[in-house]
This record gives sequence, structure tokens and C-alpha cells, in this order.
Amino acid sequence: MVRKLFVGGNFKMNGDLANLTKLVNQFNEAELDVESAEVVIAPPALYLLPLKELARKGIKVAAQNAHQLPAGAYTGEISLHQLKDIGLEWVILGHSERRTLFHESDELVAEKTAAAIKSGISVIFCIGETLEERESNKTEEVVARQTEALAKVIAEDDWKHIVVAYEPVWAIGTGKVATPEQAQDTHNYIREFIAKRVSQKVADETRIIYGGSVAAKNAQELCNQPDIDGALVGGASLKPEFTEIVTAAE
Ligand code: G3P
Repeated sequence: MVRKLFVGGNFKMNGDLANLTKLVNQFNEAELDVESAEVVIAPPALYLLPLKELARKGIKVAAQNAHQLPAGAYTGEISLHQLKDIGLEWVILGHSERRTLFHESDELVAEKTAAAIKSGISVIFCIGETLEERESNKTEEVVARQTEALAKVIAEDDWKHIVVAYEPVWAIGTGKVATPEQAQDTHNYIREFIAKRVSQKVADETRIIYGGSVAAKNAQELCNQPDIDGALVGGASLKPEFTEIVTAAE
């Protein structure tokens, strides 16, 4: 079964209108094979609309977070309904920075994900363990717990709207990338967990991408692993290097 490669760029809270416009223009001009890879960039909320209009066909735009309710008195929040309204197809949910800094629980991330699917938005669903958890051999327990929370609230058919992003927290923004073997082992574990918990078909079809210090120099080796279907890139997505990562991953 062939899973289409997926490469996401998470800009986090970086950039301004001038430099992100320049960056997206550089992506537009690069020779990206968007037939072989699904390419999605996630700018800060303020720039979603202008960059969506600027990005060439084949480069999609994702939000970095959303509120689970459709509307209401939630100052500062953006609803999934509103993301859909401006024509977005993707949202990142459960990023470790949301889980840690904004105290989003497994249940809340799962609830948001279920709400996104109901709103017609696909989800880059992030999971991953901290350094402490890895060192105490809890990696599998943590990713299983995070994935189980989702499996409880969505139907088998909903998984086609999910890309799982395995991002070990210790590898995010640290330059300490997981080795291809470490990443492959955990991706394989996640796929087997989905096979047992949901179905073999869903496990075979769901893309599981790796995030954490991905760069042009390590993307190819990571993406060559049998259970790694692409990358979620942070720091390097803010540079023209991102296009080299897409090409290397292909
Ligand atoms: O979501 C992407 C991310 O958390 C990885 O960031 O800077 O390590 O590539 P970075």
C-alpha cells in the first residue's frame, strides 16, 4: 500500500507579513513535486488568509491550533468552523507546545480532533514523549495513551482525515534529531497500536510523519524508513531549506 508522502512546515509564532511573504514566494518558485508529496505550511493565525492566497496550487495552509466549539464567548480563540470558512483543509492539533505550555490534555486534543473532522478539516495529530519519559522507557506507553484518547472518540472511517505526527519532545528545536532507527521503532509501534486498536486497514493507510530537528541533511534517511511517511518541520521550514527537505523526502 502506498501512502502519499506528507511534509508539513510549522512556523510556530515566527515571522511577519514581509518575511513570510518572501518565504512563500520562494516556496512557490521552487520545483516541488506536489504530486508525490502533500505539502502543508502552518503560519501564525494572522497570516493564514494572505498566505493561503499567495501559496501556489499544491501548497496547502494549516492552522496551528483551534477551539473545539463552533462559536461563543472565548476571547482570543479561533473556531474550526472559522478555519473552514476561509477554505482551510488542515489544522495541527496537540503539538507538544500546546500540551505543555497551554496544558492541553489528551482528552482535549482528542475532542478538538473529533470536532475538526466534523467540521471537514483534516488534522495533523501530534504525539510524543518527553526526555524523562524516554529515559524511563515510557515512550510506547505515552504514544499509546495519546493515540488511545483519539481512538475512543473517532470512528474508523474518520482516520482518513488524520496524519499522525510523532514528535519526541526532546528532539524539538534542540538539533538532537532521533536516529532513523529510534524514529522507525516508535512509528512501527504506533502503526501496530492502530492496527490492534482500530484496524489493519487504518494502520496501513494512516500516514505517520516524524518531527523534531528535521533538516535537509537528515530528511532523506528518516523518510526512507518503512513506517515514516514524511516530516513535520519547525525551524527549517522558515528557510528556503524547507524545499530541499520536501525534495529529499521524496
Ligand atoms: O512541529 C514541528 C516541530 O515541533 C519540530 O520543530 O524546530 O525541531 O524542527 P523543529
